[in-house]
Amino acid sequence: MIPLSIPELSGNEWKYVKDCLDTGWVSMAGAYVNKFERSVAHFCGADYGIATVNGTAALHISLMLAGVRKNDLVIVPNITFVASVNAIKYIGADPILIDINPNTWQMNLDLLEEFLEREVYCVQDEAYLTESKRRIRAIMPVHVLGNMCNMERLVALGTKYNIEVVEDATESLGSTYNGQHAGTFGTLGCFSFNGNKIITTGGGGVIVTNDKELAIKAKHLTTQAKIHPEEYIHDEIGYNYRLVNVLAAIGLAQMEQLPSFILKKKKINKWYREQLDDVGDIDFQTIEPQVGFNAWLITIRTAHKDMLLKYLNSNGVMCRSFWMPMNQLEMFENDIYVTEHNSSNKIYHSCLSIPSSTGLTNDQLNEVVNTIKQAFSK
Ligand SMILES: Cc1ncc(COP(=O)(O)O)c(C=O)c1O
Repeated sequence: MIPLSIPELSGNEWKYVKDCLDTGWVSMAGAYVNKFERSVAHFCGADYGIATVNGTAALHISLMLAGVRKNDLVIVPNITFVASVNAIKYIGADPILIDINPNTWQMNLDLLEEFLEREVYCVQDEAYLTESKRRIRAIMPVHVLGNMCNMERLVALGTKYNIEVVEDATESLGSTYNGQHAGTFGTLGCFSFNGNKIITTGGGGVIVTNDKELAIKAKHLTTQAKIHPEEYIHDEIGYNYRLVNVLAAIGLAQMEQLPSFILKKKKINKWYREQLDDVGDIDFQTIEPQVGFNAWLITIRTAHKDMLLKYLNSNGVMCRSFWMPMNQLEMFENDIYVTEHNSSNKIYHSCLSIPSSTGLTNDQLNEVVNTIKQAFSK
């Protein structure tokens, strides 16, 4: 079976992990956590990085630091991984689900802008939903599959309505908009390093920010909010969300290889786009010219999704369906969904991701394309 997206661990991973094991620094304290944080922040052009146990924890803490409180509302695209919305719900806040642009599959900013103009009023620089008088505290764009919406426009909307921007940049390490890295447009940006991401620590995340106070607070909250070096004195309810040294060691080795991973992913993306250009009705998400695309996970669109998904998975090519839109999950069906044409549903029923690992050989890439061609010739 050609896997969907597996890590490439061919750098200094063994060496750095061995160093942790040899020295006994396997837990939260240890030099690799700081080095890994600095490496991610430096790569993105952010001032600070705070490592977390996973991307979901990074989102949870970032939303709290952006001021999201119980009963607040947070704007988020309707197509995302469930963790984005779960993080909002952990705080007792609720999402406003915005439909996606049918071409880029990112949050539809025309819809968002119309919604803000139509449904939101401001009092003393605070934005409220007219109908329920609930405060809208944050906008969380999700850079789905490493693509990005027009971040300059989104940030301008946030500024106009005084709503903080927190980026779910979990899939977009290395992507840019007009040369600026994903994760650095908002007050805080969150990355994930689970096993299928462009770099991995097995499980892990990083929050990036340029705000020193928020960075200090993020570290404090992720380490049980302990305020005394020796005594167990804590000044608020904290979380055990800090990444451990042995995983950060893997992360540091992965960061050293990130530029080469991005190049490989871009090559795979270009190759698929060329080879599948005239196969069946296949097309791809639009990448606007301002976006530097990390090409994390190649996803194709076809009216024959179910047939193709079944055919590929039973013929040695692993592929996976796109996420069910958030408004269709029973637990979120009473949340606000802003849409015109329900593009989320159409994308859900027509998209599937195909093998995109950096380690794919030419033979494997050919096999994927040939199997897709076979499926369409049946
Ligand atoms: C869009 C999105 N948001 C959030 C997450 C959560 O990250 P993690 O799995 O590291 O908790 C992921 C990754 O799984 C994701 O793809």
